[in-house]
Amino acid sequence: MNYRKLLDVAKEQNRKTPFYIFDQEQFEKNAKLFVKTWRETFSNLDIAYSVKTNKNPRVIEVLNQVGFLPEVCSPFELEAIMQVSKPSRVYADGPAKEVEDLRVFMQRGAHIQADSLDEVERLIGLVESGEFSKEQVKLNLRLAVNHKGAFISRLGLSEAELDMALDVLAQANVKPAGVHIHFGKNITSVDDIRGELARLQPQILKVKSLQKAEFVLNLGGGFASPSVWSSRDLKMSDYVRDLKVLIESLGVYDGSTRLVIEPGRCLTEDFASLVTKITCVKSRDYTNRLAILNTGTNSIRSVMAGAHNVVYLPYDYKVEGPIADCALFGANCYEADIFRSEVQIPDTAESGDYIIFERCGSYDLETANSWTREVPPVYFRDSDDQLG
Ligand SMILES: Cc1ncc(COP(=O)(O)O)c(C=O)c1O
Repeated sequence: MNYRKLLDVAKEQNRKTPFYIFDQEQFEKNAKLFVKTWRETFSNLDIAYSVKTNKNPRVIEVLNQVGFLPEVCSPFELEAIMQVSKPSRVYADGPAKEVEDLRVFMQRGAHIQADSLDEVERLIGLVESGEFSKEQVKLNLRLAVNHKGAFISRLGLSEAELDMALDVLAQANVKPAGVHIHFGKNITSVDDIRGELARLQPQILKVKSLQKAEFVLNLGGGFASPSVWSSRDLKMSDYVRDLKVLIESLGVYDGSTRLVIEPGRCLTEDFASLVTKITCVKSRDYTNRLAILNTGTNSIRSVMAGAHNVVYLPYDYKVEGPIADCALFGANCYEADIFRSEVQIPDTAESGDYIIFERCGSYDLETANSWTREVPPVYFRDSDDQLG
């Protein structure tokens, strides 16, 4: 983003920091490219946007127009979607679906990704009580992944739980439509999922063998943002091509399979920045220099993960002075409200200058909260560098 231009517009429009800027143009371009890249290889494909990553109505509207379906984790998210779009299909995820949640999802005709045996039993309860017919049930069983060989995820069904769930379904004469797997985050290569997919192959084939018609292979989300792909010199188009080869070779995908993916982060993360101002500069024995910004770390809740690029811009845009370490603290009255313990900025940095955190578009925008101050507003940048 051209921050100088945008900050000039913000100054003209008397917009006070802190605020987020969301780059609508690049976001839309990326979303279209994402759809094109996947559809070139997979024709029977549902791309279900992971709504929890950013449910701003403008974001949802664009994704809906570009061809994304929603993936929601609660009736609350589903209703938020319904305010802006009327999707033809919805995927319902989440590890804590109570009977009331399942009822709402069923009423909306959602494809339910069962996360536990309890959920399967609750769903069957709704069928056996006559509230819904067996034909209305569209159920994918989430399989628990083994994270880097270290532990089995609490999310989804273990191998033993899968067998129990299949027994419950068989007794009720209900067939699962497919499986759901979510491998983790910042995936940029099929090597990131190859081992785990192979480990899960027998479980997937067990469910697949029950389906005479279309089998649903939902591989979840977890794709890295465009900036991460390019920093690793990798391309999503190669990933998609390699994925097809992998899933065909494992026998979990064929002509009768509907592939589902649930991207989130990769669609929004790169496209929002938080613009803050330095309010004062001090020095302490543990750091030569620290700056306190005019918002707290509750505006970027994932800041400790270190994924945000930090941009410094003096108020008059003239960078002076040698570069030196500076710690960046938040506006809240507790010691640990720290954005970064060391950033390199000119030693002339002073109050009124801008500090911008990039890559806030996923999760951060959604989880920012008001505490002592309100949540910074989000301004959308259009193609003319105007802020709407
Ligand atoms: C089941 C499921 N699908 C999709 C996503 C979205 O993941 P990401 O934002 O990494 O694409 C998540 C995130 O945790 C998830 O748990």
